[in-house]
Amino acid sequence: MSSTEINATASETTREDIPLKSGTKQSKWYSCSDECLTGSKFINIAFGTLTVVITIALLIQIYYGDYQVVPHGSVATDSLDCSRIGTQILKQGGNAIDAAIASTFCLAVATPHLTGLDAEGQILIYNHRTRLLPNVIDFSSTNVLSDRMPRLVLGLAYVHQQYGTLPWKKLIDPSAELADNGYVVSRELADVIIKSKAEDLYGRLEPGQNLQHKLLSNTLRTIGNITEKELYSYLDSAHQPVQSQGIKSNFHNYDVYVPSLASIGPILLVNLREIEEFNFTKIDIQSNKAIVDSTLYVYQEFNVNDKFHEGTSTSVAAMDLDENYVSLVTGMYNYFGSGEMTLHGYVLDVKNKTKPCSRIPIILTDSFYICGKRMAFGANGIAQASQIISNLVIGGQNTTDGIEAPRFYVLPNGTVAIEEAHLPRFSADLIQYIKNIYGKVLTVPEPYYSSNIVEKSQDDLSSHSDSRGGGIASRF
Ligand SMILES: *[C@@H]1O[C@H](CO)[C@@H](O)[C@H](O)[C@H]1NC(C)=O
Ligand SMILES: *[C@@H]1O[C@H](CO)[C@@H](O)[C@H](O)[C@H]1NC(C)=O
Ligand SMILES: *[C@@H]1O[C@H](CO)[C@@H](O)[C@H](O)[C@H]1NC(C)=O
Ligand SMILES: *[C@@H]1O[C@H](CO)[C@@H](O)[C@H](O)[C@H]1NC(C)=O
Ligand SMILES: *[C@@H]1O[C@H](CO)[C@@H](O)[C@H](O)[C@H]1NC(C)=O
Repeated sequence: MSSTEINATASETTREDIPLKSGTKQSKWYSCSDECLTGSKFINIAFGTLTVVITIALLIQIYYGDYQVVPHGSVATDSLDCSRIGTQILKQGGNAIDAAIASTFCLAVATPHLTGLDAEGQILIYNHRTRLLPNVIDFSSTNVLSDRMPRLVLGLAYVHQQYGTLPWKKLIDPSAELADNGYVVSRELADVIIKSKAEDLYGRLEPGQNLQHKLLSNTLRTIGNITEKELYSYLDSAHQPVQSQGIKSNFHNYDVYVPSLASIGPILLVNLREIEEFNFTKIDIQSNKAIVDSTLYVYQEFNVNDKFHEGTSTSVAAMDLDENYVSLVTGMYNYFGSGEMTLHGYVLDVKNKTKPCSRIPIILTDSFYICGKRMAFGANGIAQASQIISNLVIGGQNTTDGIEAPRFYVLPNGTVAIEEAHLPRFSADLIQYIKNIYGKVLTVPEPYYSSNIVEKSQDDLSSHSDSRGGGIASRF
């Protein structure tokens, strides 16, 4: 990363701290620089170069559409509409949890192949001021099955009851409106409809076309109209998501937070420990080979493919001004779940699930510097999660490079495969290495699991939505 970009973001953030100048320090606007840097000196320097800095920041925004200067907050999802709905919620004073709820309802509209009102999921909620272990709310369990309310609604209602600040209705209405007015069909959605023969659900769609969904819109409006009192009454003890504390481990001087219960979290941490043993300092052919070896070993040793199912996955990453970091992953057992459409305009997920799914929310923070990098993202499977974490932490890659880097997959029969279509590709050396293991290189066709990330470093915020998911992050 060039130093111009770092300067631009740092100062842009300081500009947001202008109220400090009047002597009324707004404690609500917690800033990492309050703790890490000697405040006033830093601000004076920043003011001297303000004009230059704004120009540079604007140029960067023009040239790197994806890289943004974000002092307030950011939301990254598989759909630009849904990222925007999330940041609108932040703008209205909602916290990162409110934003994640609103964005997830939106994904139930815009990415119906991946998630929906009957989807399951997990949220990881961490606050970097208290730095306590994060909380996990898991609404994958059969507990959350009710004939009165779809599972995702119950799960998010519970999250809202525990952590939400804005009225429930405000979190749903934007998605009801999107379904009403229509959203732009993504290439991924159009592809999956063809590949999973789901034309009877949505018809054959063209990427870029506008798709309205009046039935779902009406369902969402009805759910939005439910008073919070009534809504929470559905969450009796028999219909509650499972709340637990996340677990923490250390990887190359980063704290790694993941869920424990019924998730791949604990096994992911084992793989990270295996990778850390090598003391790698960069991502190159050596470290990539070791990551392949270690991951294969861990899949085999822990029977990962027997224990977990790789269902669909779509992740929302969000951070707010109060240092709440959130990763919320939802999905179904298969694309379009069971393929059965309800009269309310959403598909039902598969009922006879035999294993828990492998999607996982992750938060990383620098173990030594409070204002070092802090990252929230979601992944699907140990292979994907381990590679992204290694890219970000060992490789020190920025959010774009860390997420867009090529990935290998571990197929259900335990062999390694690489992406057929995604760019950039692995180096020829690594491809040869994989070829040597199996005598040939297996490739997986699109679509690929996406991973969306928001990262803070000092007070700078950057975010990236994986091109594999077709989204764009939003920030303000
Ligand atoms: C990420 O880092 C690469 C260099 O490794 C650089 O080319 C790119 O511009 C950076 N992107 C952002 C968004 O900072
Ligand atoms: C939701 O409530 C609004 C007024 O608060 C009403 O106009 C609308 O018809 C209601 N919609 C549904 C689907 O219940
Ligand atoms: C990594 O570093 C540790 C501690 O310095 C050392 O004990 C270990 O042997 C190193 N591992 C490798 C593979 O070099
Ligand atoms: C689950 O049910 C579907 C039909 O609804 C069936 O095709 C599938 O084989 C079943 N799967 C298992 C694991 O029982
Ligand atoms: C594993 O599965 C892939 C894809 O289904 C197949 O091409 C490959 O031959 C299988 N490998 C083994 C060792 O069974």
